[in-house]
Amino acid sequence: MTKWSPNSWRGKPISQVPAYPDQDAVAATEKQLASYPPLVFAGEARKLKKQLATVAEGQAFLLQGGDCAESFAEHGADNIRDFFRVFLQMAVVLTYAGAQPVVKVGRIAGQFAKPRSSDSETKDGITLPSYRGDIINGIEFDEASRTPDPARQRMAYRQSAATLNLLRAFAQGGYASLDNVHQWMLGFVSDSPQAERYQELASHITETINFMKAIGITSEGHASLRETDFYTSHEALLLGYEEALTRVDSTSGDWYATSGHMIWIGDRTRQPEQAHVEYCRGIKNPLGLKCGPSMTPDGLIRLIDILNPDNEAGRLTLIARFGHEKVAEHLPQLVRAVQKEGRKVVWSCDPMHGNTITAAGYKTRPFDRILSEVETFFDVHRAEGSHPGGIHIEMTGKNVTECTGGARAIRDDELQDRYHTHCDPRLNADQALELSFLLSGLLKKAHANQPEKKAVNG
Ligand code: TRP
Ligand code: MN
Repeated sequence: MTKWSPNSWRGKPISQVPAYPDQDAVAATEKQLASYPPLVFAGEARKLKKQLATVAEGQAFLLQGGDCAESFAEHGADNIRDFFRVFLQMAVVLTYAGAQPVVKVGRIAGQFAKPRSSDSETKDGITLPSYRGDIINGIEFDEASRTPDPARQRMAYRQSAATLNLLRAFAQGGYASLDNVHQWMLGFVSDSPQAERYQELASHITETINFMKAIGITSEGHASLRETDFYTSHEALLLGYEEALTRVDSTSGDWYATSGHMIWIGDRTRQPEQAHVEYCRGIKNPLGLKCGPSMTPDGLIRLIDILNPDNEAGRLTLIARFGHEKVAEHLPQLVRAVQKEGRKVVWSCDPMHGNTITAAGYKTRPFDRILSEVETFFDVHRAEGSHPGGIHIEMTGKNVTECTGGARAIRDDELQDRYHTHCDPRLNADQALELSFLLSGLLKKAHANQPEKKAVNG
């Protein structure tokens, strides 16, 4: 293999590139970004990799979720807090059910760039460039908004920094303390069918915490009760931006992407000889790789050879996104190939992207299909003797109506009520919590299946 450098991807064929009208302005922006401070530190990415290694071994579960695409317009403290509290609720439900650590990774603080199936969009006879995410152009359908503008990369960087700052404060500053487990319930969810179930579980935890307090174990004295590790992730699509934030770690001498803790390669940009795989192979962060129906067992092993040549557990998370009807046909052969070759990976299930349909003029995802893909994912791993390691979802803390179904049974004709996504339909807070309860049943079943359970660390 040829020598890697942060810009060696520039010598490869590349897909999903925005047509910036002014290349000098792009270069100037990248130069400026390269002088900005890193958003995350190498040591944090290494810590996440270690935690993901425990997921690969079946000793922890990965919860990864957030917006399909973050937007500049919706950047605000309330949005971040509402997302974070639903995320914490899900994490606590899964930790309790699985009786093992949950590794928490947000699709946040950097999830701005979107791959598109077409370079352009035509409306009423007018053709303009497709919307590629706020880091590239604007969603409004007019020429000025749709023209890619490099200045947006600085905006995305600053929004990521501010978001990350608040998340760090929430995660480490007391908000995420298990003392607050009752307070994470959101107002509009509190009258939902999930609320009662959640409050019951929270009461069990509070009872346990009170007992621990009585014997001298308090959240003041024990960071593990008071704090949580929360990591960020996004699709590494806009490689000029990623390159500008790629830095050498002074302690190890290795290169790290400092735009987020974990980055992933999308299903549209995973060609082994192309730019996105080239960039990702050289950085030491934990990586995700989206696997859709066109992924073959040989193709997967080839990508693993490139992305994780040392077979390091925690380095690579395979994110399966087949669709509820296809997962049973496609996943087993990939799992078998990985097992036959003895590759250490985390298997995660993205039940969103293969289950998108159009109803009443809206892109939506029926909740029962999402659930069906998750169930089949667990079934396949049970049959193959591998670990169903995690879940990757598009979700929000808001009370949106973007996915149909769920306990509140959102109908096709109700999608118009609160359809706010900038890209794909997300689970709302209610549906996200409901999914975590359904997952907790699957996790319990999976554990009952695991005869000798090793000691759980952390
Ligand atoms: N520190 C532990 C963890 O992160 C326990 C914990 C603290 C926790 N706050 C939490 C778990 C919030 C889930 C949600 O797992
Ligand atoms: Mn999406």
